[in-house]
Amino acid sequence: MRTELHFHLLPGVDDGPADDREAIELARLAVEDGTRRIVTTPHVRLVDVEAVAGMTDRLGALLGEAGVDLELRPGGELSPDDVGVLDDVQLERLAHGPPDSRWLLLEAPLFSRTRALDSAAEELHDRGFEVLIGHPERSPNTPDSAIRGLVADGAVLQLNASSLTGAHGGEARRRAVALARSGLPFLLASDAHSPARPPQLTPAARVLIAAGIAEDAVSAAVDLLPEAILSDGLGAARGPRGAAAAHGGRSRLGQRERAASPLARAAEVFLDRRRGT
Ligand SMILES: [Fe+2]
Repeated sequence: MRTELHFHLLPGVDDGPADDREAIELARLAVEDGTRRIVTTPHVRLVDVEAVAGMTDRLGALLGEAGVDLELRPGGELSPDDVGVLDDVQLERLAHGPPDSRWLLLEAPLFSRTRALDSAAEELHDRGFEVLIGHPERSPNTPDSAIRGLVADGAVLQLNASSLTGAHGGEARRRAVALARSGLPFLLASDAHSPARPPQLTPAARVLIAAGIAEDAVSAAVDLLPEAILSDGLGAARGPRGAAAAHGGRSRLGQRERAASPLARAAEVFLDRRRGT
């Protein structure tokens, strides 16, 4: 099931759709783009965290009435500044993955005045959460060395489809392609906000293929890994051996090795092939 892990779909809460009508239109565009499941990720600083699940259920019911075949899950997009403000219960409301492998979407900051990404990620690790790094290619103040350090600590990269299609300028597009080629674990999400900033996984996948990224790598980033990490945690994108290597032979969070689902095993086989192991 094609799954979007970063998508502003809740109406009237942040800079996403203004109202129900626009949210339903945006959801229809996602279905046309091939998506069947969306994790709603409002900017956490702009929303009542306790209300996200209820708002997501309400919108899901509206979509059902409108005949839009889309499953919704509640989530949120943390900025580095949000991390120290929320308590563990609030973070848990926004987290995904199995009980022993919870993770959160943490955006790479667009502006220099924001708390540094690596410091926020370290705090989340210390509090028991791994991180999916949102749009690292859009963060001029997060150098590649910092991104590699975060991946060494277990993070997975979420590149914006909108960066690949050029919506955020040439530098973000160039960096997104470079990160996709880098061998670091990544997946795509639209980070859609409105019909004017729509879902575009399919055109972004074409951009990656045109840039010479192997089709199975693109398929994993768009169709396989988002669903896999939602159900199995970020280890599905790294593979159990990759996770062990990233943490010096032992999971930083002390997780036991879990029996991999068929989907996670498929991702692991694919990623091993890509690494040449
Ligand atoms: Fe976003």
